[in-house]
Amino acid sequence: MRKPLVAANWKMNKAIKETLDFIHSFLQLVEDSGDVDIVIAPPFTSLADAFRLLRATNIKLSAQDVFYEDKGAFTGEISPVMLTDAGCSFVIIGHSERRQYFLETDEIVNRKIDAARRNGLEVILCIGESLMEREDNKTFEVLDRQLRDSLKDTAIDGITIAYEPIWAIGTGKTATPEQANEAHTFIRGWVKRKYEESADKMRILYGGSVTPDNIESLLAEPDIDGALVGGASLKPEDFAKIVKSAKRRI
Ligand code: 13P
Repeated sequence: MRKPLVAANWKMNKAIKETLDFIHSFLQLVEDSGDVDIVIAPPFTSLADAFRLLRATNIKLSAQDVFYEDKGAFTGEISPVMLTDAGCSFVIIGHSERRQYFLETDEIVNRKIDAARRNGLEVILCIGESLMEREDNKTFEVLDRQLRDSLKDTAIDGITIAYEPIWAIGTGKTATPEQANEAHTFIRGWVKRKYEESADKMRILYGGSVTPDNIESLLAEPDIDGALVGGASLKPEDFAKIVKSAKRRI
C-alpha cells in the first residue's frame, strides 16, 4: 500500500509573515502527520523561514520550480543547491503554469528533473492535458509525450507524478474521480512498461480544484495516492481537512 502524499502548492501567494502564520495554525490542526506525507511549497522568499518552523516536524518543504544548473550567470534563477540549502527536500517541476506562461518545454522539464535528482531533491512532476486536447481525445497521447520526454534518461526513484488536467486548475471544475483514475491508471501502466516493479511503489497525485469536499471521493480511487492542492491549501483549516481525509483513507 502506498502512503498518501498531500502537497500544498501556494503558487505566488503569501509573504513571509503569512507563511509563518499559516504554519503555526496548521501545526495546531494537524498534530501528528505520521500516516500521511505532507509537503508545503511556499514561494522562494519564504522557504528559509518556513524551514525554521518545519524542521522539527515531519512536514517536508518544497519549492515550486528550480533551474537546471547548480550555479553561474543565470540572472534571476534559483539552483537546486540553493533549494537544499534553504531546507527543501522536494521541488515541483513542470507545472502547467510554468509551461503556459514561461514556455517551459518537456526538454527543459527533463533537465530540471535531472538537476534536482542529482542534488538529492525529490520531484513532483506535473503533467496534464488542456481542455481542447481532452475534447479531441488526445489525453493519453499528451500524457505519453510528456512522460516520455520529461523522463528521458531518468531513473524513477524520488519522482512523484501529479496528474493535473489544465482545465481543472483553479476553475472549480474537478475531474470526476473516474476521469482522474483513468488517467492515473494510464500513467501507472506507462511507468510499469518503462520501470517495471517501481510503478507499484510510485505515488500519483491528482491536482485541479481539490477541496475538503471532493478529496474523499478522489482518494477512494485505487490509483489516486494523494493530491497537489492549490487554492484550498491557502487556508490552514481547509488544508488540514484535506490531510485528515487522506489519513482516513489508510
Ligand atoms: P487549484 O487547486 O487551485 O485548482 O490548483 C491546482 C494546482 O495547480 C496545484 O498545483
